[in-house]
Amino acid sequence: MRIEKFSAKVKGKIDAFVLPVFQDSIPEGTKNIIGERGLISTAKSHGFSGKKGEIFDIYDNDLGARIILVGLGNKKEEDLETLRRVYSSSLPHFRGIEGGTVEVVLPEISPEEEAKEVAFSLGLAAYDFDRFRGEKSKVKVERVLIRTGASASVIDEANSIASAVNFTRDIANLPPSVGTPSYFEQEARNIKGITVKVLGREDFSKLGMGGLEGVSRAAREPGKLVIMEYGPKDEDPILLVGKGITFDSGGISLKPAEGMDEMKFDKCGASAVLGVMKLISEMKLKKHVVGMMPLTENLPGGNAYKPGDILKHYNGVTSEILSTDAEGRLVLSDAIAYGVKNYHPSEVVDLATLTGACIVALGNNYAGLMGNNDKLKEKIEKAASRTWEKVWELPLDDDFQEQIKSKVADIKNTGGREGGAETAAAFLSRFVDGTPWVHLDIAGTAWTQKNTAKREYLPNGATGYGVRLLYEYLKSS
Ligand code: BES
Ligand code: MN
Ligand code: ZN
Repeated sequence: MRIEKFSAKVKGKIDAFVLPVFQDSIPEGTKNIIGERGLISTAKSHGFSGKKGEIFDIYDNDLGARIILVGLGNKKEEDLETLRRVYSSSLPHFRGIEGGTVEVVLPEISPEEEAKEVAFSLGLAAYDFDRFRGEKSKVKVERVLIRTGASASVIDEANSIASAVNFTRDIANLPPSVGTPSYFEQEARNIKGITVKVLGREDFSKLGMGGLEGVSRAAREPGKLVIMEYGPKDEDPILLVGKGITFDSGGISLKPAEGMDEMKFDKCGASAVLGVMKLISEMKLKKHVVGMMPLTENLPGGNAYKPGDILKHYNGVTSEILSTDAEGRLVLSDAIAYGVKNYHPSEVVDLATLTGACIVALGNNYAGLMGNNDKLKEKIEKAASRTWEKVWELPLDDDFQEQIKSKVADIKNTGGREGGAETAAAFLSRFVDGTPWVHLDIAGTAWTQKNTAKREYLPNGATGYGVRLLYEYLKSS
């Protein structure tokens, strides 16, 4: 499905129109297509009133095309998330249009923003992870033409964003025996315009990265720390770090069997960092960015690291292992400490499917935000509200440090059930060395099995959460 700006030069039949209708008025663009031919009153007699989210779908003989009316609510209440949801919910109505063209009309209250948001949410809604399935995706429309006063470059950017998010989803959705650390390395090397450096198991030992060494010790697939660098090196970089546990069995502290398959999604943080590196290089963003992916499986085995072990991390901090299932913080800490020491970043943002506790606290539509710097938190919050990749701050003061004190090491890798998301962040805070830092716990938002908020642009599986948020943040910082 190709998404383009409509222009008079575009030839060919239009098979369907998506037309916006407000509850209190009808946008000009809609009137221009269906005129005053009573279609709206037909829709009204079927109970369609233009309320937010309503859809009315009818074949119009005069136009020889399907008309899909979408309700946007009251005109002055227009907001971007409504547009994303409403327009992406028109996509299932494209089914059955094989290889045809759909024209999408916008209300044109804020043309640039509308065009961008609608274009990429259609691109996101059309996503289907069908690589391993005989029956392919059901939407077979060839072209979507957006009728807009916005410039074509806005649509180009939207297409790039959608394809980066879908690229992230593709990798995050991979079965754990396919989406391995080596697979990630290869994908990083395929991105044009970035340099890639890879540390392996021997480096972990040599460099004193005890967390990465310990967690990856019993893995069959060799663990890796993949470091991607982009942009002008004359300024301090922004450092992005994504948790890349390609499968989290819990290790010796084995997880229960039920639902363990979902731990293939424990690589969603790394997948998002990979996607955003691809996006900024494609968009030629003028910013120095370093993206790091600590990658390994977390498996049990005769040589596995064990509860009771003490690991020494890259910055010298030692941690007592109480649960081998609290592995994310162990690999992130080495990556963060290495990044801070060797790249002197001005800011650090990490993304991790880190704790079940965060899901219990915030559900599936908010990532937990914790950090040590109000300005950076604010920047991330702004980017989150613009993209609707929502965040909610959880507290992180020194009291949480008490909870992770160990009797035999500097810190321990679990602080008990209470405040599980915060004690995980408190652990990470020991590795940033005072650099402004934000931690996003994306355990609840990184994948969806039931789409609790009914967002049509978030199909089942990995959501690609974080790509749009990080891109907005990088663009505006
Ligand atoms: N990857 C999990 C966190 C997770 C669990 C994410 C379920 C999404 C859904 C992480 O490695 C983990 O196992 N965390 C433990 C930490 C505990 C042992 C302190 C958890 O949250 O139970
Ligand atoms: Mn775990
Ligand atoms: Zn994990």
